[in-house]
Amino acid sequence: MPQIFERNSNALARMSLVLTGLIVIALGVMLDQLQRSPWVTRQGQRADQPVPFSHKHHVQGLGLQCQYCHTTVEKSSYAGIPPTRTCMNCHAQIWTNAALLEPVRNSWYTGESIPWIRVHDLPDFVYFNHEIHVNKGIGCETCHGRVDEMPLMYKQNTLQMEWCLDCHRNPAKNLRPTSRIYDMAWRSPAPDHPVWCAATAAPSGTPTAQTVDCTTKNPSGSAGSGEMALLQSPPGAANAPAGDVVPAAVPVALNYQKFTSQMDLGHFLLDHYKIRNSRDLMSCEVCHR
Ligand code: HEC
Ligand code: HEC
Ligand code: HEC
Ligand code: HEC
Ligand code: HEC
Repeated sequence: MPQIFERNSNALARMSLVLTGLIVIALGVMLDQLQRSPWVTRQGQRADQPVPFSHKHHVQGLGLQCQYCHTTVEKSSYAGIPPTRTCMNCHAQIWTNAALLEPVRNSWYTGESIPWIRVHDLPDFVYFNHEIHVNKGIGCETCHGRVDEMPLMYKQNTLQMEWCLDCHRNPAKNLRPTSRIYDMAWRSPAPDHPVWCAATAAPSGTPTAQTVDCTTKNPSGSAGSGEMALLQSPPGAANAPAGDVVPAAVPVALNYQKFTSQMDLGHFLLDHYKIRNSRDLMSCEVCHR
């Protein structure tokens, strides 16, 4: 209808279509950014806890182990938050008048647990299990950061699906010896600080990850990988009642391999921990059951 509309209105119409398109895209990007922003994921934020409990003081300062308080982390899906009794082991004697600890004493006298605010909280439709991660060589620090340096707890990672998938796609880059799970300062092997590992044939029923022995000190005493005779007590010898004749320790030849890169160590551990292939670990049913 050129009589009614001027010639350039066509261009205008096209322009407004393009503009609308751009606005829709921009909104999409904004929503996506928002979805990942610390404001939504609460990454890095300190919760307003009833007691300003400091991991830094209790872990780094007093040298308490994570398992002292999070007792079930190796054997159940939940790490667990300690009951007030655990705090009172010490605070019945130490800092008994501190106002900061009033909610702890109050909980102890009334028997009601301290209303800690959860910092990490996955939606109910996601399945997560500490036991398997910890027993397959993922350290607390990989997921929770330097807890020993946190005066107040915060979330180091988003815990969003793409964060989980990023590791499941390629777990080798995050695997470490299971003996170093609680080591907050673990460093991946590098040419100037290698790691030596050997896999043993353990009695059936032993979790696969327990059959790998790693050390940061050269087990053969000389450079490179080497064979070493390790004196290994036969199973059960340690718990034999006093007075029993304990069978002599048998020398077991362990073939230690030297690792100077995380990927080499990771691939060795993938094999010996018997970790499923990444395609299986990425399938929806693993986490959404
Ligand atoms: C003296 C007891 C104690 C020790 C030792 C301890 N924790 Fe905790 N932890 C707590 C308490 C109490 C809370 C709940 C309050 C808070 O979030 O700060 C907590 C909370 C946490 C949380 C967050 C829980 C949530 O709400 O999502 C993580 C993660 C955690 N601890 C990891 C660790 C790690 C890793 C270690 C070892 C380096 C450790 N803790 C050692 C007592 C302890
Ligand atoms: C092994 C003994 C021990 C246990 C167990 C323990 N505490 Fe403490 N706590 C201490 C000591 C010692 C201090 C003083 C630390 C300092 O000043 O360096 C302290 C200090 C505190 C403080 C004062 C602020 C700070 O961190 O310095 C709070 C709050 C606190 N503890 C809460 C708790 C809670 C809650 C629990 C239980 C989850 C707990 N503590 C378990 C020994 C313990
Ligand atoms: C693979 C990542 C990963 C590793 C490794 C890991 N955690 Fe967690 N942790 C999580 C996730 C995810 C949650 C939230 C779970 C939920 O909401 O169900 C969590 C929650 C927690 C909580 C809150 C209570 C609970 O059980 O939900 C504590 C305490 C905790 N972790 C301690 C630890 C300690 C101690 C270690 C090391 C022994 C550790 N975590 C290793 C990912 C991890
Ligand atoms: C840093 C690495 C890492 C991160 C991060 C991680 N995982 Fe895993 N996950 C693993 C490894 C390794 C296994 C063990 C796979 C095996 O043994 O085959 C595993 C196994 C699992 C399993 C299988 C458990 C079973 O019993 O079959 C589930 C479910 C799972 N992860 C959920 C999650 C969820 C949900 C998240 C994110 C909140 C997450 N994981 C984050 C490394 C990781
Ligand atoms: C390694 C564990 C893991 C695997 C595998 C996984 N998811 Fe998720 N998924 C999660 C977690 C964790 C969340 C919660 C994210 C959050 O809280 O923001 C989630 C959330 C979701 C959501 C809710 C929307 C969202 O993004 O928050 C959908 C839909 C979803 N997943 C679909 C899938 C599909 C489809 C697959 C298979 C292709 C899959 N997931 C595989 C861990 C996993």
